[in-house]
Amino acid sequence: MITLGIETSCDETSAAVIKNGSEILASKIFSQADIHKKFGGVVPEVASRNHALKIHSVVAEVIENAKVSLNDIDLIGVTNSPGLIGALFVGVSFAKGLSYALKKPLIPVNHLTAHILSGEIENKELTPPYAALVISGGHTHLFLVSTSYNFNLISKTIDDAVGESFDKVAKTLGLNYPGGPEIEKNALRGDENKINFPIAIKNKLDFSFSGLKTAVITAFKSDHYLPEDICASFQKTAVDTLIHKVRLAQKKFRFSKLVVAGGVACNGYLRQRFKDELKNINVFFPSKVLCTDNGIMVAYTAFKFFNKRIFMDYNSRVFDRDERIKLF
Ligand code: KG4
Ligand code: ZN
Repeated sequence: MITLGIETSCDETSAAVIKNGSEILASKIFSQADIHKKFGGVVPEVASRNHALKIHSVVAEVIENAKVSLNDIDLIGVTNSPGLIGALFVGVSFAKGLSYALKKPLIPVNHLTAHILSGEIENKELTPPYAALVISGGHTHLFLVSTSYNFNLISKTIDDAVGESFDKVAKTLGLNYPGGPEIEKNALRGDENKINFPIAIKNKLDFSFSGLKTAVITAFKSDHYLPEDICASFQKTAVDTLIHKVRLAQKKFRFSKLVVAGGVACNGYLRQRFKDELKNINVFFPSKVLCTDNGIMVAYTAFKFFNKRIFMDYNSRVFDRDERIKLF
């Protein structure tokens, strides 16, 4: 079974070909980060236009590298929600055209579901039930995944996503977009105990990062601190917050496995602290290439749920948000 996955929900134009759900035959991620850098963040219309310029060559390249022909493709999966409307529209339109021309089924994939399932691709021990923390530029969402793959959202951010706070803090400090890797790099030279930022809403499961972001910006403007100390102290508090909320959730829901996925899960400091401090939970991290947006997780999700036979209607829309979190 050859599955093609297409992902264009934000600023990565990505596609992948996988075989029988587990063997990755080819994958390509074209990151637009350099294009958006000069604006200090993702400009939606610029993202859509660059997806339109790249989508054909990215898909053609993975098909060639996978050493399959177009007709060998059995199934196509494409991200249709949530994300930037124009960006999603490019991938979905392309996938609909390909599916129609090849007469192959097309599965609509929810971006969050794909991030959650990305943890299963390399870890066969990661089987439900498990908890899933999706931490990215757009999301800070904690789910419980049931044995029958129902996704129960138990907590999310009430304001900024954690990745967004990394990006905004980096922008204030004059660092490049995306801010996460820049903060992580600068934090290595800093003292994480220099500034004592608070964890927001400590007694509830809800996440909140906008107060932390404002506190960091105020500290920066005070001219009292070195940028690397600000980076380290901010990163420490962001991770303290995530670990604290996971502990609260674990006390209530008693899960024993946790997957941490999405772009922020690339952070090495975060990975180490989760492993060191959540001793009673088996913590799984997908490899870094599977954490940022990619076509592999989309192909895997489409393959995984093929038997549910929820195919995309060629007249369907794309969705910028999806609070209902269905299977796809
Ligand atoms: O999952 P992703 O590629 O796209 C979204 O769905 O948003 O995540 C991108 C986010 C950005 O906010 C970026 O700053 C953050 O992931 N990120 C990081 C790191 N690498 C990427 N945050 C912290 N540390 C990192 N090393
Ligand atoms: Zn994502």
